[in-house]
Amino acid sequence: MKAVVSRLACSKSSLASFPKISSSMSWRHLSTESNKVDEPFKVEEAETVNMPPPPTEKLLVLGGNGFVGSHVCKEALNRGLVVASLSRSGRSSLHDAWANDVTWHQGNLLAPETLKDALTGVTSVISCVGGFGSNSQMYKINGTANINAIRAASEQGVKRFVYISAADFGVVNYLIQGYYEGKRAAETELLTKFPYGGVILRPGFIYGTRRVGSMKIPLGVIGSPMEMIFQRTKPLNQLPLVGPLFTPPVNVTAVAKVAVRAATDPVFPPGIVDVHGILRHSQQKLK
Ligand SMILES: NC(=O)c1ccc[n+]([C@@H]2O[C@H](COP(=O)([O-])OP(=O)(O)OC[C@H]3O[C@@H](n4cnc5c(N)ncnc54)[C@H](OP(=O)(O)O)[C@@H]3O)[C@@H](O)[C@H]2O)c1
Repeated sequence: MKAVVSRLACSKSSLASFPKISSSMSWRHLSTESNKVDEPFKVEEAETVNMPPPPTEKLLVLGGNGFVGSHVCKEALNRGLVVASLSRSGRSSLHDAWANDVTWHQGNLLAPETLKDALTGVTSVISCVGGFGSNSQMYKINGTANINAIRAASEQGVKRFVYISAADFGVVNYLIQGYYEGKRAAETELLTKFPYGGVILRPGFIYGTRRVGSMKIPLGVIGSPMEMIFQRTKPLNQLPLVGPLFTPPVNVTAVAKVAVRAATDPVFPPGIVDVHGILRHSQQKLK
């Protein structure tokens, strides 16, 4: 990028061409030291210098073609970031216009060597990879896959890493043990490898419009009223065992907004952000 830089230098000759100043003011008045006769200013010719381009933030969204991931990609593009995504199916079935602005990589976090290319030049990562299945499958996809990604990103010098984890659901945790054990193992790895730039978001139920094939399912119809009710019943959240069931649902756009901010704002505090923190951060004005 070229920038024009003007230089100011001192010389007696040029201010003579400003009749008002030279005739009505003593040079002494322009000086801060009374016994010093100041040299008047001269504006030299503008000089063109080569400046390095502004640093570019490049974000890699893991699982960018999923429900949360696609909203994260959209939010990041709106904020002017360079966005890439990696998932097993690559671009998949998304035909929205914004999807043309994402670089889609195909890869599998369970085969970390497939991540290498996608991580080139990346400054921050948001992982939206997770899922359900048998206990061992859930541990693999929520835990092992993300641990692999965190290690690879740390080795490549990525500055910030955001992991979309999940809120505790008390008794429910025992029913999907592999899911929570995987989530918590990935969180531990993130806090170890990214002590200053690692952020864990722990939403409860996430609502918004989810795409299934060519169909759009408006989960907000249930989620939005629930969010309002549960925000007003916050103290119930503290009850033993059943308390976590009162965790308010959160809109997918709020999760995406906070994730992108956590991935790019160097002063966003590292550590765990629970659902109330997500709601609070999402209401803050973006810089
Ligand atoms: N939805 C909710 O209500 C909710 C609530 C709390 C927490 N969360 C968490 O939020 C995250 C995102 O959830 P979601 O609802 O958006 O899930 P989703 O729609 O199923 O998206 C999961 C994404 O992960 C990718 N993926 C899965 N396995 C992969 C692998 N081995 N390597 C690379 N990519 C892989 C999938 O793409 P491919 O199939 O193409 O690989 C997909 O893009 C998950 O961690 C989930 O646990 C969700």
